[in-house]
Amino acid sequence: MSDKYLLGIDLGTSGTKTVLFRRDGSVVASSTVEYPMDQPENGWAEQAPEDWWNAAVQTISAVLRKSGVNPGDIAALGISGQMHGLVMLDGAGEVLRPSIIWADQRTGAECREITEIIGAKRLIEITANPALTGFTAGKIRWVQKHEPGIYAKCRHILLPKDYLRYKLTGDFATEVSDASGMQLLDVPGRCWSDEVLEKLGIDKSYLGKVYESPEVTGHISAFAAKLTGLSETTLVVGGAGDNAAAAVGTGVVADGRAFTTIGTSGVVFAHTDTLAIDPRGRVHTFCCAVPGAWHVMGVMQSAGLSLKWFRDNFCTSEMETAELMGVDPYQLMDMEVAKAPIGAHRLFYLPYLMGERTPHLDPDCRGVFFGLSAMHTKLDLMRAVYEGVAYALNDSLSILDEMGVKPAQMLATGGGGRSEVWRQMLSDVFDCKVVTTNSKEGPALGVAILAGVGAGLYPSVREACDSMIKIGGEQLPIKENQPAYRKCYEQFVKLYPDMKNAFKRLSE
Ligand code: XUL
Repeated sequence: MSDKYLLGIDLGTSGTKTVLFRRDGSVVASSTVEYPMDQPENGWAEQAPEDWWNAAVQTISAVLRKSGVNPGDIAALGISGQMHGLVMLDGAGEVLRPSIIWADQRTGAECREITEIIGAKRLIEITANPALTGFTAGKIRWVQKHEPGIYAKCRHILLPKDYLRYKLTGDFATEVSDASGMQLLDVPGRCWSDEVLEKLGIDKSYLGKVYESPEVTGHISAFAAKLTGLSETTLVVGGAGDNAAAAVGTGVVADGRAFTTIGTSGVVFAHTDTLAIDPRGRVHTFCCAVPGAWHVMGVMQSAGLSLKWFRDNFCTSEMETAELMGVDPYQLMDMEVAKAPIGAHRLFYLPYLMGERTPHLDPDCRGVFFGLSAMHTKLDLMRAVYEGVAYALNDSLSILDEMGVKPAQMLATGGGGRSEVWRQMLSDVFDCKVVTTNSKEGPALGVAILAGVGAGLYPSVREACDSMIKIGGEQLPIKENQPAYRKCYEQFVKLYPDMKNAFKRLSE
């Protein structure tokens, strides 16, 4: 029997990445194509679904060409994607308007209406989340209200990655992890909520069939095979939303496991076999890609972004030195931060450069250095930025702890996850073992693993992860550091409530 391969497609916000894996999770070939994001008005964010499809076709063809693999040997493929985006198609399957994506914030009024119509408590009971501007339901309501002519022609509502599935297979389908971010799914029951759909006037027939993430939803159509070079025998599985896919790609698929991503934004994501919902809606609860399980996730807006902002504005000399040495400027910043004491001589940084999601759900708050004195140096400011991000991530972890979700180990991923200094700081602040993984492919590997399960190469998601993912780089909390971090965190959590009104005044 010839070797079997698995394909993972990750439809991100900046571009689509397609990766071909061997069945052991090693990479054969990979290709990325970027596309733009339009911001027609302040706070709006749109993308063209046709750009995503073109990027998928180009990257799939490139991967097949580079690898020389026989397309018939690709057992299955999975798709991961940016969540929450709204794609509307007419009865002939044509795109009706640009996709309003997750980052778009135009739906404040629609979210207030949804909360009123369904009731705040009932909405959280059914969809496990309060009405949030990023989520899909508010976007649908916006089109119903502002573009009734377009809504009248709409016959299919899809999430970004499910639009690619439609183009690849001809099937209208989704899966539980991504559908959880639409605010239309009964998250405890893992099916569409008739109550929410009726109250919001959305016809259930517009939504695709809901599968579990590793289930087979179809196979490559003759049309897509011709365009991409794929074989019609390749199966397509449900796939997952980007964070749920990253969880599978890093082995966060059992109770006690969690990951934190320090990319532009910061995520703390924990797996849970038992449903856990924050009645105050400060963290998201979504179905995860492991059938019958969920995840709880806190998202901070400016994690890596805070550090990048500091680097770009205050670290010109580090950037020049790094260029001469041929190293990453963050490596030099890591070395400098390690020289400043914990607490940065009583200096605090609040990382709210772009408002905040978890735990404050406040678009008006802004970044702050608090406690500046004449003794402080650039080193202290840099240290305060690192620590402020770690404390803000700890806010998410504290809420998970309140909900009884207690990770025994935290996997660090994203750009920040590569820094040993960050990882030690997280371990000390979180009071938790921090580990890393051998793969950089997160979401693409995650959906390739789901594809492997769907194709029957592995009996379950957990068993596939155990054989394909290697965990390493273990760091434990340094006990002597922890009392100082604890004291600082106690101060940090008091600063936002003290400044909340001042932020509001500033925004006015
Ligand atoms: C999750 C979220 C992001 C997007 C874009 O709630 O908004 O992870 O999926 O990456």
